[in-house]
Amino acid sequence: MKCKITNKSIDPFMSFGKMPIANGFIKEENFSKEFFYNMEVGFNEDISLFQLNDHPKPEMMFNQNYPFFTGSSEYMKNHFNKYYEFIKKYLKTKSKIIEIGSNDGTFLKNFLKDGNEILGFEPSKNVADFAKKNKIPTVNNFFNKSTVKNFKEFLGKTDLICASNVICHVPNLKDLIESIDLLLSSDGTFVFEEPYLGSMFEKVAYDQIYDEHIYIFSASSVSKIFKMFNFELVDVLPQTTHGGSMRYIIKRENKPISPKVKTILSYESENKLDSLDSCIKFKKNCEISKENILNKINFLKKAGKSICGYAATSKSTTILNYCKIDKSCIDFICDTTIEKIGKFSPGMHIPIKDMNYFHNNMTDCIYLFAWNHKEEILNKEKQFKGEWFSHVSL
Ligand code: TYD
Repeated sequence: MKCKITNKSIDPFMSFGKMPIANGFIKEENFSKEFFYNMEVGFNEDISLFQLNDHPKPEMMFNQNYPFFTGSSEYMKNHFNKYYEFIKKYLKTKSKIIEIGSNDGTFLKNFLKDGNEILGFEPSKNVADFAKKNKIPTVNNFFNKSTVKNFKEFLGKTDLICASNVICHVPNLKDLIESIDLLLSSDGTFVFEEPYLGSMFEKVAYDQIYDEHIYIFSASSVSKIFKMFNFELVDVLPQTTHGGSMRYIIKRENKPISPKVKTILSYESENKLDSLDSCIKFKKNCEISKENILNKINFLKKAGKSICGYAATSKSTTILNYCKIDKSCIDFICDTTIEKIGKFSPGMHIPIKDMNYFHNNMTDCIYLFAWNHKEEILNKEKQFKGEWFSHVSL
């Protein structure tokens, strides 16, 4: 496999086997046409970057019907409100603000005041249309050099570019950073947050790895990559979202740097997050995790317990296909997303049901696939008296 930023060949250190598109919820009549790829991961030690090999083209994923609306989770809405409060310090009066992957406009909506000029880039038509309907200026396209050049009023004048759980989806990081370079003012700030490699390793949350997540970043990788383009990592802020994320704050060179950057880089170096050693350990941990979850499910099934899955997350596709868990183990997966209900899970073809069905057909046990939303979910499903479990500790 080739590193997408240094062009260097890297040997994968692990394969998760045949994998479908994580968000490819499928109708029965399309089972025979389902797309699969071999999901392998590698680590580029030059820039400490954990990356996926052989990913399908993004056009296949962020298509007409990307089944994810930021506004669908109360927790995420709350998170974005707090994110907005944090980010305000990087604004002046009447700022120009761009969001990469603006989804349904939940986050950008906060800035629609104080004379700010906002612009979202969102390649998925259904969510972009939703944002436009809510009067959020949205470009229904990918964020890249050729698309940003059309917005002359933002070139070299943008005060803030932000992105959440998006940069890890962008195959061409070089073009992305060069686009940011075209847009940012001299004191402009780029803020982005992504699932954090350290948290993924610690929790053995290998379900963070799927076709949309081409990279899992760390402070070491972010710092090294942006340095190549004369940008610097000036601050970091750990987040609890997505089971452990990191917010990275980037500015052009020679700006003050928070001492937190040095602290996290030392932490990562001590824990070998900047080297292949930690990946080898992670591989072993994934294999152990697979064995444990299969043992758990076999144990429950032998005891005559019924199991359903809670939340048909993208992440669950990795778990189900890597561990080969199908509907002989899990009766159905319940979810709130209209686009997923009535379809089947990618690869393993477990039926996706709505919440009404779930409440009328409660199983003995529930595999919580949205373990990252545990508090919100357990709180609203208090009437369930059986056992919740997951591959990460709950
Ligand atoms: P998330 O962890 O954000 O998923 P992903 O792995 O896809 O990034 O969870 C989003 C999915 O979980 C989405 O399909 C909706 C579903 N969900 C529920 O069904 N109920 C809930 O209470 C929550 C929080 C999510």
